[in-house]
Amino acid sequence: MNKKITIAIDGFSSTGKSTIAKQLAKELSYIYVDTGAMYRAVALYAKNHQFIGSDFIRKDDLIQALDAIQLSFRFNENLGFAEMYLNNVNVEKEIRNLEISNLVSTVATISKVRQKLVAAQQEMGKNKGIVMDGRDIGTVVFPDAELKLFMTASASTRAKRRYDELIAKGENVTYDSILKNVTERDAMDTSREDSPLVKAKDAIEIDNSHLTKEQQFEQVLKLAKDTINS
Ligand code: DC
Repeated sequence: MNKKITIAIDGFSSTGKSTIAKQLAKELSYIYVDTGAMYRAVALYAKNHQFIGSDFIRKDDLIQALDAIQLSFRFNENLGFAEMYLNNVNVEKEIRNLEISNLVSTVATISKVRQKLVAAQQEMGKNKGIVMDGRDIGTVVFPDAELKLFMTASASTRAKRRYDELIAKGENVTYDSILKNVTERDAMDTSREDSPLVKAKDAIEIDNSHLTKEQQFEQVLKLAKDTINS
């Protein structure tokens, strides 16, 4: 039988990490975990409890409430991937809107939040056979992952992709607001003190600005199969 490995996919926002991670997990019959969804769900909880807004954060109150936040992924047969549940409520759609995208990087700077989520992620991946995407998977969550990918693409390419996605979902957004969100999140994700976004030394960088989804998948699947068979 093929050995099971851990695949860590990190990179900037909207680099197509989740698309490639979902495709890989499906092809290899591995579990897929979108760790960004977990940070987004905590941001949604914080927003709903007035712990965070566009111009304030009540960090200590959020930390106090962390034990009351229960996160789970439940597989949706129709969609073919797991959706995010916050205290048993499906929040998959809500956590993707621009308001949460604007709040989440601030929530992700809080060390206590990171500790809670990293522990849950390590538990989910303890038996390997997992594809996990995020910002600190290859550096903090699974530093011993057998395959680490670091995805990049220019900010304008990423903003255009995200804009098209949100418009297709019927959201009322402008390209400029998305580009602003993408560049602000890049800055916060790379400059925060706890677990900033950095490429792990042993990660393979994939710049997909000029790759089609098919070309990218072919390349990444080959890397995964070579690692599994090595
Ligand atoms: O991948 P995403 O855009 O859904 O992630 C949302 C935010 O969560 C992102 O701005 C940074 C943060 N994040 C993080 O700090 N660590 C992770 N492992 C995943 C996401």
